[in-house]
Amino acid sequence: MFAETFNPYRPSVIAWPSLAPDELHRLRSLPIWDIAVQTEGRARLSFAAYATSLDDAEMRSTIMLNAWEEHRHKDVLSHMVRAYGIELAEEPPYRLPRDREFAFLVTGYSESIDSFFAFGLFDLAKRSGFFPAALVDTFEPVIQEECRHILLFANWLALRRASIGRWRRLRFELKVAAAWVYIAGLRVGLARSIGTDKTASQQETNFTVTGAQAVTPVKIGVRDLLQVCLQENDRRLAGYDPRLCRPTRIPGLARFVLAVGKLWPGGRR
Ligand SMILES: [Fe+2]
Ligand SMILES: [Fe+2]
Repeated sequence: MFAETFNPYRPSVIAWPSLAPDELHRLRSLPIWDIAVQTEGRARLSFAAYATSLDDAEMRSTIMLNAWEEHRHKDVLSHMVRAYGIELAEEPPYRLPRDREFAFLVTGYSESIDSFFAFGLFDLAKRSGFFPAALVDTFEPVIQEECRHILLFANWLALRRASIGRWRRLRFELKVAAAWVYIAGLRVGLARSIGTDKTASQQETNFTVTGAQAVTPVKIGVRDLLQVCLQENDRRLAGYDPRLCRPTRIPGLARFVLAVGKLWPGGRR
C-alpha cells in the first residue's frame, strides 16, 4: 500500500500563489510554523533511526520512505516560509533516540493525534475561504500523506503485535503505555508553559486551542470541531484497501468525548 500510493510531487516546483496583504498577515500570524518545521525534522530522524534498526528489508525501506516524506514536508514548509517572508525560530539540534522503537512509538502516536486534528482544521481552512484555495490546495498532498503515515503506523502496530510471543508482547505493551505517558507528559508540560515566553513550544501548546480560530473567521466549539475531525478522518482513510487496520485510538476517544458531552447539561451546544 505504502509504495503503491506514493505521490511523486516536488516541493521545489510548487508555484506559491501571490497573497493580498491581509491574507499574508493572516498566514504569517498562524501560530504553527516553527513547531510544524521542527515536528517534521524530529519525525524524519525518529523514523529513519527506527528503519535502520530493522532486519526486515521490506519494512525497513517502507519506514525509510516515510522518513523521506517527512523531510519532503519540511522542504515544502521551507519553500513556503521563504516565499512569504515568514520568520522562524532557530531549530533545536535533532538528537538520535536511544531506544529507537520507543521513539518510533512516540512519534507514530503523536502523529496520529496531530493528523486527526489537522484533518479537521484543514477542512475548516478550506471551507471558510479565509485563505485562498490555491494556497490551501498546495498542502493537500502533505495532509493526505500524513493520513497514509498514520495508516502505516496502525498496520505496523498490528503486525508487531501479531508477530511476537506472549512475554515480548507484554514488554511491548508496557512500552506502548510508557509512550502514552511520555506524550501526555510532554503535552501537559507544554500547556503549563503558556505565557512564559514566546517560543515554539508555546506555539505547539496553543495550536489546537487557537488553531480553529486561526483558520476560520467563524467561532467553532469543541463539539463541532471534533465532528469535523471525525468526518474528515473517515473520508481521508476511506480510499485505502479495506483490509488494512485503521487508527482507532484517537477517533475512539473523540467519539467518547462527544458521547459524554451529550449527557452534560447544555452539552449539545
Ligand atoms: Fe510530516
Ligand atoms: Fe508523517
